[in-house]
Amino acid sequence: MGVVASAPAKVILFGEHFVVYGEPAIVLAIDKRAYANVESRKDKRLYMRSANLNLSGCFENGILRIEQGDAKEAKSRFEPVKLAVDKILEKYGERVGLNIEINSTVPVAAGLGSSAAVAAAVAAAVGELVGVKMTKEDILRVSFEAEKTVHGTPSGIDPAIATFGGALLFQTDTGFKPLEVSMDIPLIIGNTGVERSTRLQVEKVRNLREKHSQIVDHIMWAAREVVLRAVDALKENDLETLGELMNINHALLYGVGVSDESLEWLINAARKAGALGAKLTGAGGGGCMIALSKNEKLEDILEAIQRAGGRPFVARKTDEGVRIEQN
Ligand code: MEV
Repeated sequence: MGVVASAPAKVILFGEHFVVYGEPAIVLAIDKRAYANVESRKDKRLYMRSANLNLSGCFENGILRIEQGDAKEAKSRFEPVKLAVDKILEKYGERVGLNIEINSTVPVAAGLGSSAAVAAAVAAAVGELVGVKMTKEDILRVSFEAEKTVHGTPSGIDPAIATFGGALLFQTDTGFKPLEVSMDIPLIIGNTGVERSTRLQVEKVRNLREKHSQIVDHIMWAAREVVLRAVDALKENDLETLGELMNINHALLYGVGVSDESLEWLINAARKAGALGAKLTGAGGGGCMIALSKNEKLEDILEAIQRAGGRPFVARKTDEGVRIEQN
């Protein structure tokens, strides 16, 4: 038996995209996790398998040979994981062969931080197996490096929450700080099923900002105000205000062009069914939306999202970041 580690998925409650330009954002770890099971091999190869994506392949002298699944997809999922592994083996000082099996309940390319959760879980498991002491800061650093190869110029919010869990107020220049969230936040996630690339969505906002900097800067300042007010609303257990702020945040994201028809359908359906607020979460352009609900409305909103063509599920905050499950 090898070492098993896991890390949580996330939802961004407020501030995605604008966070890339230094504005604050609020992110929650949720009760869906990616698991990595790592064991050593006799040879020096690095074998990877993603059970949920039906992909497998083997790196030999740095070259990936696909055994199962689409080559392009395997490359895009496995290369960042390999980079994380290489960083840890560099610390270890010796090239060893590994079998890595990834099992994840996190929908991929959906805005829920699946790639960061996988990278953090793999980094923790490999560190534990080879006996390289990895602090949470080390795991964050390694998974952030991996994330850069996936998303181009990420803010680092996904690896931070996958590593530390809980709720964070995140900002690129000042770092992040844990937020005390004592209330239950009944959240429904609606997956549009439309896969998209975070890198492209971030580029889209960058191009718009270059073209209309005066306008987009004002949208960003408004988004900052939304986040700061949301911090107070969370402290005051004020769900109604949180909902309103989510609606405003979504309007700002719509303004910078990262919503799409599939998201608008689900967001409108959730609001009509009684959601206190609803917005896209993550990079947009498809992926997932979130709806804030009173507990008594959960069922109605779940049903409405489903009827509108989405795949809904209830998400709860989890305090546990990356952790070793078995060694
Ligand atoms: C991705 O989960 C959130 C974005 O803000 C990109 C980033 O912060 O790296 C769209």
